[in-house]
Amino acid sequence: MNRTFAISSAAAFSVLTAVLYVGMQNGAGQQLVSSQPRGATPPGKYVDKDGTIRLPEGYRLKWTHLGSWYVEDKKDGSGSLHDVYAEPEAVVAFRNTGKWPHGATIVKEVRESRKGKMSTGNAHWDGQIIQWFVMVKNTEHTFPGSPNWGRGWGWGLYSINDPKKNISTDFKIDCIGCHTPAEHTDWIYTHGYPILNEKEGPFKKYPKENYNGNEPVDKPLTE
Ligand code: HEC
Repeated sequence: MNRTFAISSAAAFSVLTAVLYVGMQNGAGQQLVSSQPRGATPPGKYVDKDGTIRLPEGYRLKWTHLGSWYVEDKKDGSGSLHDVYAEPEAVVAFRNTGKWPHGATIVKEVRESRKGKMSTGNAHWDGQIIQWFVMVKNTEHTFPGSPNWGRGWGWGLYSINDPKKNISTDFKIDCIGCHTPAEHTDWIYTHGYPILNEKEGPFKKYPKENYNGNEPVDKPLTE
């Protein structure tokens, strides 16, 4: 995989969350995820029988936006924007149970940030896509021993140069080190996604108790 980029985003520990409003319409609350049958069911729609994880298409149009991360550049560059998406059914299941259901698929899209002065202030906005990170929940531990599966998840990385190929070869090398700070929240940086526990709908209030204020700051990696 292209370690250079992934690691460069690593050093950025000064992370601002800018979680955008995402409309969860009332109906979404009704779509419960049915539990998968036991056995070697490939988790979710984006995993082949052999455990190959594919990058989902159409997530920008149809999925729920969990949140955005803006990662500053170490020097004077404009940094990068990370937008995270999950399927609405998985979000509803998480809100109800606090757990990701088997097959829940989470996509993190990484874009270059553009920046400039605008009437609102010093603004950053989406530039071109660089790469995508994908995690697929695997409560049934379907692919034991596979290097892209472990800790209850499948792990994938896709470059804009070849979005069809998972270029992560071993999650223990390419991913897990950086996700260890989030181990207590099932390896997901849940504190950046308030939508996961905002109980009220768009026309109701969002009480501040929804936000636990517990926002750990990762230690910067030494590399
Ligand atoms: C450089 C450290 C680093 C590496 C390497 C890394 N991640 Fe992450 N990942 C993070 C951080 C930090 C976040 C949340 C904040 C952000 O994006 O800046 C995150 C977020 C994510 C998300 C969004 C859901 C969440 O956990 O919040 C996915 C999906 C993801 N990573 C998958 C992967 C996969 C798959 C790999 C390996 C191929 C990987 N990551 C490698 C640090 C890393």
